[in-house]
Amino acid sequence: MMKPKLLIVDDDDEIRTQMKWALSTDYEILLAENRAGGLEAFRTHKPAVALLDLGLPPRPGDTEEGFALLAAILNADKMAKAVVITGQNDREHALRAIAAGAYDFLCKPVNPDELKVLLKRCFYVAQLERENREMQQAIGDGTFEGMLGASLKTQEMFSAIRKVATTEAPVLLLGESGTGKEMAAQALHSRSARRAGPFVAINCAAIPDTLLESELFGHEKGAFTGAHVQRKGRIETANGGTLFLDEIGELPALLQVKLLRFLQEQKLTRVGGREEIQTDVRVIAATNANLKSQISDGKFREDLFYRLAVVTIHLPPLRERGDDARLLAQVFLQRFAAENRKNNLSFHPDALRALNLHTWPGNIRELENRVKRAVIMADGKRITAADLELIQVAGTERPITLKEARESIEREMIQQVLQRHSGKVSSAAVELGVSRPTLYELMEKLGINRE
Ligand SMILES: Nc1ncnc2c1ncn2[C@@H]1O[C@H](COP(=O)(O)OP(=O)(O)OP(=O)(O)O)[C@@H](O)[C@H]1O
Ligand SMILES: [Mg+2]
Repeated sequence: MMKPKLLIVDDDDEIRTQMKWALSTDYEILLAENRAGGLEAFRTHKPAVALLDLGLPPRPGDTEEGFALLAAILNADKMAKAVVITGQNDREHALRAIAAGAYDFLCKPVNPDELKVLLKRCFYVAQLERENREMQQAIGDGTFEGMLGASLKTQEMFSAIRKVATTEAPVLLLGESGTGKEMAAQALHSRSARRAGPFVAINCAAIPDTLLESELFGHEKGAFTGAHVQRKGRIETANGGTLFLDEIGELPALLQVKLLRFLQEQKLTRVGGREEIQTDVRVIAATNANLKSQISDGKFREDLFYRLAVVTIHLPPLRERGDDARLLAQVFLQRFAAENRKNNLSFHPDALRALNLHTWPGNIRELENRVKRAVIMADGKRITAADLELIQVAGTERPITLKEARESIEREMIQQVLQRHSGKVSSAAVELGVSRPTLYELMEKLGINRE
């Protein structure tokens, strides 16, 4: 795990050496001895926390260089946590530093234990703030009809929805379970001209075959035993709006024929009825099954497939959505923490790492459930990998296939190297020992965003 970076600016050699010695097990220490060096180190390495001596050369006798550096650091990153070191009983400068935006101060001689506690708190607050910022960003830039995600693949999916929503074309949504098919169907509806009309969903797999026909098409009184009254089906109920046919791959052969006829003419006949009823319904279907192979096995009608799949939208699995898992986890955490009145809950770094490494077979639904459970179970302020029931260390997690294991390691490495090179693909490619086009291909395949 990478250590957090700590910048120490002090003109005294001995103090720098002592500090480095005392703190380097917990932090990656960056040292500087004057204002220019300190600012340069801060700009290059972007440490979350800086420890500043106020008396710096060329004016070690007063505090002006120190205050100038403090201002420059906060100017470069207003979220930086700066701790200033003042002389003994030097309340005046301590107060001035706080007023200028320093996070805290310590008096000379610095007590190492006190320093360690203070630094720990600084990094903790810095992390909370960063998480919060990431979350706000995800909500701000990423949100689309209640769906979140900033990764390239997610954004492409949003723009596909945006594009076809306003057309009348039937849409087929394809995606693994928990990828947001139902949410996407609702987004298509709420962005269409039919938004004021009804949105009616029916899960073809959840209703027994014998009832599905009358559920979809309705029935007349006396159509079958138990049909005491006339009933409209879901298609009619959706008149003027959108019908969402979930798990369309489970539709029995006879109903496939009947649905096809309806799609061709927008007309239907209730079970046991003779009258043809004209409707105005837009159909959106979804499945996580491979319809193409069902077609070649003779289980799904090809003509129906082409009627339904005038437009096809793929909902990418969560493992291909780059950093979305982390962002979604943060948002879900805030949501469930608020619902459970558990304020100040945040993820332990091992949990964030585990989130990145997990392959999410159940996709967003799985993520949501894991976070929900963890919020309920968490004792302290931090949610750990164990609370999420994820295994914390890379390599000990047993991936489902070799391919997934390889991809998970590739993703982790590429993200780290890209981060080190501030998103510069060419130099990251050199470090990773691959060509630039290959790295682009890998990023595309693994759903990695340059940012
Ligand atoms: N992009 C997203 N942002 C936030 N929440 C999402 C997103 N996509 C899905 N969800 C949430 O994940 C859960 C699963 O979504 P949904 O039911 O739409 O998926 P699905 O593909 O229909 O799943 P299934 O195949 O299990 O029926 C829901 O609770 C939904 O609110
Ligand atoms: Mg669903």
